[in-house]
Amino acid sequence: MPPTNHDTTADAPPEAVTPLLRGLGVLRRLTDAGGRLTVGELERATGLARSTVDRVTGTLARMGYVRVEGRDIVLAPQLLELGNAYLASVRLPELLGGRADALADELDESVSLAVADGDGIRFVHQATRRRAMSVSFRIGDLLPAERTAPGVLFAAEWDEAEWERWRERRTADPAGLGFPALPQGRSGAAAGGDFAERVAEADEAGFAVDDQLVEPGLVALAVPVRAADGRIACVLSTVSHTSRHDAGSLHTTLLPRLRAAADAMERALRDAPEPEPGAPSGLAAWTGASKQELGREFVESLARGLTVITAFGAGRAALPLTAVAEATGLARATARRALITLEHVGCVAVDGREFRLTPRVLSLGFAPLSRTTLTRIAQPHLAGLAERVRESTSLAVLVGDEVQYTGRVETSRIMNVHITVGTRFPAYATSMGRVLLAGLPAADRAARLAGSELRALTPHTVTARAELDALLDRVAHDGYALVDEELEEGLRSIAMPVRDRAGRVVAAVNVALHAARRSREECVREVLPELTAAIAGIEADLHVTERFARVPAY
Ligand code: PHB
Repeated sequence: MPPTNHDTTADAPPEAVTPLLRGLGVLRRLTDAGGRLTVGELERATGLARSTVDRVTGTLARMGYVRVEGRDIVLAPQLLELGNAYLASVRLPELLGGRADALADELDESVSLAVADGDGIRFVHQATRRRAMSVSFRIGDLLPAERTAPGVLFAAEWDEAEWERWRERRTADPAGLGFPALPQGRSGAAAGGDFAERVAEADEAGFAVDDQLVEPGLVALAVPVRAADGRIACVLSTVSHTSRHDAGSLHTTLLPRLRAAADAMERALRDAPEPEPGAPSGLAAWTGASKQELGREFVESLARGLTVITAFGAGRAALPLTAVAEATGLARATARRALITLEHVGCVAVDGREFRLTPRVLSLGFAPLSRTTLTRIAQPHLAGLAERVRESTSLAVLVGDEVQYTGRVETSRIMNVHITVGTRFPAYATSMGRVLLAGLPAADRAARLAGSELRALTPHTVTARAELDALLDRVAHDGYALVDEELEEGLRSIAMPVRDRAGRVVAAVNVALHAARRSREECVREVLPELTAAIAGIEADLHVTERFARVPAY
């Protein structure tokens, strides 16, 4: 059992690294607040001096874990590498996620996987049906055990000390205010009263029901997925709404299929070959920088401590101190103190000589950062690009044979038509459309263009299909498209594709400018490198985000 949320220095062991504790506290405050706080709010929430908050957030910003936006500190996608290290090390999403998704399709209901975290449960996978009727939780969200179906099952494994900790928490916080993901406004008192009884019943029956314990209307049915040693590895739940199921019908209609899926999951866990002991993910980017580059304000002990988390991962679930030190390039003594600190806050568990990550690592930003869109991921990169080239920039996706704008940072109006998010243009006559078409498999490109009439929108528009095909092949080869006054006279634009982890083109970014401002050559010489850098930033953030979460375009 990891200890509960200690991110203060008061009860920390003497070896604990104070700056690391502070950094973890700042990240957890930001997470609980939904990902954004002003510096003043952070000061008040942590009780730290302004100068300390500045040094901690400056270090986190240098690591790419937060962004500073005016007075706000905002969690940034690269922080997800910490939660990813945990999820990769336990392998539950990798081995069971596909089956959970298939079950959600089969039942047409949301399906989740949760693990135990202290006296709460934490989601490690979500296959969410989009329905407006009830809350849906995110990967990383923590709920109190007594308010959920999975918690009832996990509590059957608690020892007396764990029950005692649960009772203490219930007394101190009966409404569950310490669980920011829990919808408030409903007393949780009822859920606690007969908890022990419900735990015994569920243990006997082999399943648990949540009859509107989280919120009115939400019902859930859960079964354990056991590891080879008989312990519950995770709990599989399906979530519905009282408009479709009540607790009784949920159990009579869905239990057999839930059980069958859990059986298949247990086999998958048993039969999974031991993972190849993977290579560490590599030294963190900041470790290569000199002290001078990092600046006097950079708190190295905080950065080192967080880097220890990335020593774990696929095939690296349980590591001795030596392996952690080797993977991170840290001295053994440094790695040891970081591990002691992380154990103190419950992010690392010790088993003999081996250390492993716990689900609490997901409390470091995972939930707010994992539920996002490509458009939101791209936004700060578009803003930076627009500022550097002093021109408007946009993000778009392909819809049929049109491009649809999903993001835009405008520096000036150069077009006659006003472009807003949602605006569509024919793909064949735009730079973003051309990189999107060029990124398609040949048959898909042909199918989309088959129905398009290639109209001359200006005297310069390419309207011959053969010529367009040759241009698209060229774009695929060059990696960018430059379109000159084909959509509108006087408008020049240059675009590049955004690729997902699998290498598929999922969106395009362009810079559009007045033809009089930069020649074609100047566009390639001055704008293309900046565009390339912005795309690299978007792709790095997209890839770390979609490793375990689904990222819709908008
Ligand atoms: C969920 O996956 O959202 C969920 C699962 C079990 C519950 C409540 C919610 O009891």
